[in-house]
Amino acid sequence: MFVIGSGARHLEDEMKALGGRILDAEIKRFPDGEKYVRVLGSSEEATVVQSTFRPQDEHLVEMILLADALHERGARKLRAVVPYFAYSRQDRVTKEGEPVSVRAVMRTLAVYYDELYVFDLHNPETLKFFQGKAVNLSPAGVIADYFGEKLGEGVVLAPDKGALMRAKAVAERLGLEYSHFHKVRVSPTEVRMEPVDVDVKGKNVLIVDDIISTGGTMIRAANLLREMGAEKVFVAATHGVFAEGAIERVSKAVDELAVTNTIPTPVSKISVVPEILKL
Ligand code: R5P
Repeated sequence: MFVIGSGARHLEDEMKALGGRILDAEIKRFPDGEKYVRVLGSSEEATVVQSTFRPQDEHLVEMILLADALHERGARKLRAVVPYFAYSRQDRVTKEGEPVSVRAVMRTLAVYYDELYVFDLHNPETLKFFQGKAVNLSPAGVIADYFGEKLGEGVVLAPDKGALMRAKAVAERLGLEYSHFHKVRVSPTEVRMEPVDVDVKGKNVLIVDDIISTGGTMIRAANLLREMGAEKVFVAATHGVFAEGAIERVSKAVDELAVTNTIPTPVSKISVVPEILKL
């Protein structure tokens, strides 16, 4: 049985339509702002689906409350499916006195959940902080299905070397060539990109990344590809975090922008629900 948190309401109709069995939960707010949850039924095993985009902290607290409520109703095994995992980018101490935030969140969730499933975690190594079974699911299949026909005999690129495995996973499903850009981050808001070692002239190109935030990375990559003579430039990412105006800026720079629905946005055209229902 699936229990849907308020950060996964946008997935509920499709989950039901595809045969997912939902255990209803009431989620509201007390007048003082605190969250109230109540599960309307019981199940020995349950899977809480909760994406932890903004308001991240509220979504995380809901996960804890839902787990506690399910345990109260006799649940013995709980799984958490967290399509977008908040704090995943804070995976190291950069200034003395900072926490490793992703570790803190993983450890907390492990108190309540036996298993954790996430999509395309920024740094998959951080799953080790969850004391239990922890799985990083790949959206490569659904991204390849969405862009396969449009790409034709094109190329799949990652915006930097660290994301190469994402481009590789999509390209291998489509039997296409793949490579990556060299990306140097000059400041938090500025990145410098260098050309890839693959010929994109006259070819359609799909750039794949885990997150689009300001859109700066994708826009630079797209502009460079245009200079290199690429035909159509498509952009895909797992998580559309999107800073103010980013959707418009990226959309203007490329032929098509599509992200998955780990976070609901106007361009969340690729669904991860089929992957969730396979669990
Ligand atoms: C960085 O390591 C991530 O994988 C993304 O490339 C980054 O978050 C994209 O940020 P932006 O859209 O602001 O360039």
